[in-house]
Amino acid sequence: MLFLLFNDHSMTEAMGRQAGIIAREWWFFFWIAVVVFIATMGALAWALMKKTDRPLEEPSPQTSGAKYTAHEERGMTLAVGSAVGITVIILFVLLFHSMLTGKAIRRFESKNAITIQVMGHQWWWHVIYQDPVSSQSFQTANEIHIPVGEPVVILTSSNDVIHSFWAPNLTGKRDLIPGYQTAFWIQADKPGRYRGQCAEFCGHQHAHMAFYVIAEEKADFEKWKQQQIQPAQLPAPGSAQDKGMQKFLAGPCVMCHTVRGTIAGGAIGPDLTHVASRTTIAAGTLPFDHLNLQQWIRNAQSIKPGAKMPAMQLTDEDLNAISTYVESLK
Ligand code: CUA
Repeated sequence: MLFLLFNDHSMTEAMGRQAGIIAREWWFFFWIAVVVFIATMGALAWALMKKTDRPLEEPSPQTSGAKYTAHEERGMTLAVGSAVGITVIILFVLLFHSMLTGKAIRRFESKNAITIQVMGHQWWWHVIYQDPVSSQSFQTANEIHIPVGEPVVILTSSNDVIHSFWAPNLTGKRDLIPGYQTAFWIQADKPGRYRGQCAEFCGHQHAHMAFYVIAEEKADFEKWKQQQIQPAQLPAPGSAQDKGMQKFLAGPCVMCHTVRGTIAGGAIGPDLTHVASRTTIAAGTLPFDHLNLQQWIRNAQSIKPGAKMPAMQLTDEDLNAISTYVESLK
């Protein structure tokens, strides 16, 4: 039943080809473990309940001093030997099966697959859609959109320490290693929003390093992509958003964040060009809404201590202005 509660983050709810292979592997291990458990408990129960005709201390009728007859000794040697043999065979079957699973996961090909770069940071996910035409490239954070039913290549690396990409509905864990790029395939067979989580301890806010893979129909994906490629829309002069933009651009935000189409070009924090099109803030920590955004801008340290986003000394008026602008970055 627990699986049902977390079905957007569960390896038994396979929503893609690799996850399906991994789930089959898991169930194969599970049923073998069930059989071994039942057999072991059965043997134990049998041994405990077995009635002996004589107390163990009593010398056996054939050989004085020995506890068991030669026939009994042979039987026990055979039983222990067979149990060891069966255990070794089962372990080799599991090993061989998991090697085949690993091979099946890697066996995946597609020409012109969409390639998405995912870079780990303490503690968020930098997502880059690289296109040979540079005007078609864009960056986002913590939410990875992919088209349904198509293999997608994920290229990973890390900006600081080792992180691990784990979206259990789609595939197994993959480490993100500084200075080293790895590539793997994912494919979602059903549209949905699948939760991912950093699965390698990477510091204070490791637990608050989540992401979402949003699998959507090709047309919706293309629509999303075209919207992400656009620079941020400039607010109407004199509007509340415009006042917010002036505050944003005059403040320290621009040193860490990029908003394409403005002078903000920082590369330390997430690209905010279309931040309001995302569903969460702080790497899946909070839903993207007005109050959470204000709390985050005012004092991110109260939500995610240790994150690079500093607490801001802002008046209520400035905070309202900046958050109004950020909420307009759709
Ligand atoms: Cu990143 Cu744990």
